[in-house]
Amino acid sequence: MKFIIGNWKMNGDMASKESMLKSLKTVKSGNKIVLCLPFTLLCGKNNSGISIGAQDVSFHENGAYTGDISATMLKEMVVEYVIVGHSERRTNHDETNEIVRQKATTAIKNGIIPIICVGETMEEKNAGHTTSVIKKMLLESIPDNGEFIVAYEPRWAIGSGLTPTTNEIVSAVKTIFETLPNTMPIIYGGSVNKDNARDIISIPYVDGLLIGGASLKSDTFLPIIKAID
Ligand code: PGA
Repeated sequence: MKFIIGNWKMNGDMASKESMLKSLKTVKSGNKIVLCLPFTLLCGKNNSGISIGAQDVSFHENGAYTGDISATMLKEMVVEYVIVGHSERRTNHDETNEIVRQKATTAIKNGIIPIICVGETMEEKNAGHTTSVIKKMLLESIPDNGEFIVAYEPRWAIGSGLTPTTNEIVSAVKTIFETLPNTMPIIYGGSVNKDNARDIISIPYVDGLLIGGASLKSDTFLPIIKAID
């Protein structure tokens, strides 16, 4: 079973969510499909058989943290997964590896599976530092124990239309596999579309895909799901 995880980022409304869930209900897939939605779209009925994820969580349990959302609040919304440490949060909100680790730990404690994102910048890639960057991010971002997913998302591949070569993905994913003590799913994210999804998912150790732009519309998301079934 592979993971096909959509990340809507700050996009969508109730109508587009309902329409997507309706479309997804018509697809028969042996894979695990997850839709990571903005906080405002997490409530409401979901009888589609699709799992719902959030895109961030506070590492605090509760208290005076204006604007933050706790893991127990997510759990009440029947959220099963949460993305932590996405590069947009690391960049726009100064999230450090330590913050990411604490968020992942809190999610696990509350029965939510964190999807922990790691990936190098173009500068780091060009300097030949991909392996060491991924290793450091991983070792500092992963929780001490519990179930989680690692998403390898090269920062330069996100939303750019650029993707790493097969060898580059093999090398990065192998680094993740060898760095972590336990076996956990490793997924790839960054400019996945219906034309490259099948090739990427066929790479050894790649257990799924994290899909941004192409997950927003059913005419781009459903062909990916069908392509890898
Ligand atoms: P993208 O985004 O598929 O639009 O490149 C992926 C992500 O940010 O998770």
